[in-house]
Formats: sequence, C-alpha cells, structure tokens
Amino acid sequence: MRSTLGLLCLCWAAADLGTLGGQHSAEDSCRQQLLANSSCCLDQHGDHDVLQRKIARPGTAWPCVPKDGCVSTEGRRGDDLISVPEDATCDSCRILFLHGGSWYYGSPVTDEYRALAAKLAHRTRCVVMLPDFPLLPVGKYVSILTASVKSLQFLSTYQVWESCRPSTPVNMFIGGDSSGGTTALSIVLRWKQDPDILPAHASFAGGIFWSPWTNLMCNTPEYITNAYMHGPPPTDISDHVGDIVFNQRPLENMASFRQNALEYVGSLQMLKDPIASPFFADSEWLGMGTTPALYFAVGSSETILGDTTILAEKAAANGARVVVDIFHGMWHDFPMYSDGCGSGQPLWPGQRAWNNTVEFVRVASIGASAGGAPGNAGGWPLIRYIYDESAQGRAGWFPSKSRPLLLEHGRVEAGGHPWLKALVFMLFGALVGQLVSVGCAPLRTAVQKLLATKRGSRAGPEEMAPLLEPNRVPRQYSSQAVTGRRIGVPRAQPA
Ligand SMILES: *[C@@H]1O[C@H](CO)[C@@H](O)[C@H](O)[C@H]1NC(C)=O
Ligand SMILES: *[C@@H]1O[C@H](CO)[C@@H](O)[C@H](O)[C@H]1NC(C)=O
Repeated sequence: MRSTLGLLCLCWAAADLGTLGGQHSAEDSCRQQLLANSSCCLDQHGDHDVLQRKIARPGTAWPCVPKDGCVSTEGRRGDDLISVPEDATCDSCRILFLHGGSWYYGSPVTDEYRALAAKLAHRTRCVVMLPDFPLLPVGKYVSILTASVKSLQFLSTYQVWESCRPSTPVNMFIGGDSSGGTTALSIVLRWKQDPDILPAHASFAGGIFWSPWTNLMCNTPEYITNAYMHGPPPTDISDHVGDIVFNQRPLENMASFRQNALEYVGSLQMLKDPIASPFFADSEWLGMGTTPALYFAVGSSETILGDTTILAEKAAANGARVVVDIFHGMWHDFPMYSDGCGSGQPLWPGQRAWNNTVEFVRVASIGASAGGAPGNAGGWPLIRYIYDESAQGRAGWFPSKSRPLLLEHGRVEAGGHPWLKALVFMLFGALVGQLVSVGCAPLRTAVQKLLATKRGSRAGPEEMAPLLEPNRVPRQYSSQAVTGRRIGVPRAQPA
C-alpha cells in the first residue's frame, strides 16, 4: 500500500515537473544543446538600424600566433568595433563593452559579439564600442587593463559624426560578460583610484555586468553548492541540476578557473589584488569618492553566483547604487541566449535580463545627467530574484503591477507608489546623510587608517588557502555526470 502511494506520488511529481519542463521549450532546448556543446546557440540576430564601424587605432594591433600559445582567431588583431545607432547624437551615451572568453577566446566579431553590440546600441540608444584587447598569452592583466582604459578614453572623446566636438559632455558606461566583466569592474576600481583617467566632460554613469567573474581565488561557495549533477539513467533534462556550462567536478572546475586566473594575473598574490580581482575590494577601494551605479545579471545556478552577490553587497555597503538581478535556474551568460537557442521561442529570462539592462542604462543616464549621484552612506543592493513568469502553471504567482526601476540620488529603489511623504523623508535623509558624511570624512579616514594598521599587524604573511577543505567535497558525484561531454572545450573555460 505504502509503495503504491509512493509510486503515485513519484508519478505525480514527474508529471508536474514534466508540464513545467514541457512548457520551457526554449530553456530545455538551450540546456540540452549546451550540455552537448557549451559553445552552442548564442543569439545571432542584431537589430539593424545601427552603423557598425571597424576602427584601427594606432598602437592597438597585436599578433595572435598559435605557436606562441594564442588560441583565438589567428593573425593581426586589435581593431575596435563601434556601433552607432542611426539616430545617435553627439552627446549620446556610450558603452565600452568587454567581451568574455576567459581572456583566451573571443573578439568583437566572433562568438556573436557583433550581433550583441548592434542590439545593445539599438536598444540603449548608446554608442557601443567593443575593443579587441590583447588576449593571453600576449595580453595579461596589466596590459589588458591598460588597453581597456585607453579604449574608454577614446570612446569618451569619439566624434559620432564629423560635426561633433570631442569635448561634448557624455555619459559613459562600462560593461562586460564573464571575464570581460572582471576587467570592466577593474576599470571601475581603477577610475575610483584616479578619476582623471576620464576627461572632465565625461561622467561615469554606470556599469553593466552579465555573469561577471570577480573572485580570482575561485573559492566562493557556489563552486560546491551549484556544482553540476544529473540523476541516474534513464534521465531527462529536468534531472540535470547545477551549473550546466562548467560541468566538471567541483574541485576540477575550481582548479581550472584558478589556473586560468593565474595566467591572467601572473602570481598567486595577485589573485587577491583588489583591482585585478574586484571581489577583494573593500572600504579602502570602494569607499573612496563616488562609484557609478552598477547593474548585475546572474543565473542562480552558476558556480560564480557568489562572485556577483558578495561584491554587490560590498559595493552597496560602501555607498554605490547597485541592482542585482538573479535569474532562477539560469546558466552562465544566459542573456546571450535570449533568442531561445533555435527553439523558435524566446528564452524569457534572457529577454528579461536584456530589458532590465536597457532600463538600467536609461535610468542611470537620467541620474547622471541630473548632476550625478553622490552615493549613499552605505546600504544594501537592490536584489531581485526573478522567475520565468511565462512558464505554465505560474499564472497568478507574480505581482500584476509593473514595477519600474528608480535610481534616486544616493539610493536604489524598486518602483512603487510615488509617496510624497516618503520622498520628502528620503530627500531630507539624503541631505542630512550628506552633511554628516562630509563633516565626518576626516575622522572616518583616520579611523579607517587605524583599523587598517591594526588588521595589518595582526595578519601573518599571506598564504594561499587550499581550494577547499577536503572533507567538504561531495563524494557522490557520478563520473557519468562529467564524462562524455567535454566537447565544447572553448567555453569550458569561464566565458
Ligand atoms: C559547437 O558549437 C560551435 C558553435 O556553433 C561550433 O562552431 C562547433 O563546431 C561545435 N562543436 C562541436 C564539437 O560540435
Ligand atoms: C521585454 O520588453 C519588451 C518591449 O518592452 C516586451 O514586449 C517584452 O514583453 C519584455 N519581455 C520580458 C521578458 O520582460
């Protein structure tokens, strides 16, 4: 009797999952294909009312020579791709977008980045630049960062049309996916250290990051808790859980990430450098001056989920306005699959991530044009956990009200009723906060210095932490889960 009931329950659960899964044809289709080939199915269609210009700036050329270890497109490299919306004006916002690919792969014109650039320009109405920064082993952390800063400077004075002046005031954004997000965040930190890297006419309005890799130590807990696993055969796609893109065993996955990071930064100590590995930036780095508004989109099933959430928390605690969108069940770089991997249906979370990115750029531009945000005295990021609302069986689960994003000066708000009282209270709070923070700045700096010396004197010489304590390695990973599909080598590295 009991076993019959158990069987019934199992069948019911399977049927329920089946209907949920069955409705997810885009999601299922992407998952299935990604498992077979992790380089598959990127969005290919860029919108078309965008002019794309290839630019060869002096000093940017670099050689990609396979026998020297370059694994990307062979030959002379280094040309930028600039995408200009046809209705762009001299003062249109600008986005420098750094492509992912572990600093080994990718370029502005491969891996569908050309389409991504066109779509980003079309949808944000910003001028979008993708530089072809030097990849490993030619470029490493310092040279890649230097090249990217120069690209940002170039873009800030770029004359969209011949009649434009190079010193037209513009709002600048930085963006990147995966390892491109790492370098993009390094640029934010580099700018905080030295705001003069941008000319005075350019405001640093914001940063957009998709699945950024921020912790080059590669020891955030999701390497374990989001590790890929699938059920015993017979199995279907609903039995595959965790990170489907980086689907090695946890320790192997961490080790290959760390090896990749080491090649980028060059030494063990640099894995914790607060600029190279932005996860390690805290008050001394994030607390100084202002920080542009930051937007993150990340999948809840990624092994580098914590790379986003923890850094976002620190940035917000140090006064930045931060929005984090966590998309349930999504994989690494999922906004790049928003067309649905050839299934004929859009990938809803990918589309929502695009929409939210575009909305963020719009709202942050307005904030920056209104005089920029002074930053708050320290708070929390706005974190939104987003489910696929289009899936079958979820009607009535989610609020029916539209909830616009508001980035008030110095704080992030999820949109709602424009409550006059709350607004007055907020403005008053911001004013007092500003006065207090200005008044207390010298005292705070002194205390911070004192604390820093205290901490420094207590800490011994830096030692490398083991990847993780051996007893925390889950033992039951079936080797089947990780063999037979190491086909998509290129994107088996963090993209
Ligand atoms: C994986 O997909 C990429 C992109 O579509 C393709 O170029 C490559 O040949 C595929 N690899 C295999 C082994 O099918
Ligand atoms: C994205 O925005 C478009 C245009 O506003 C809208 O039609 C679509 O429903 C949105 N999709 C999602 C998933 O938010």
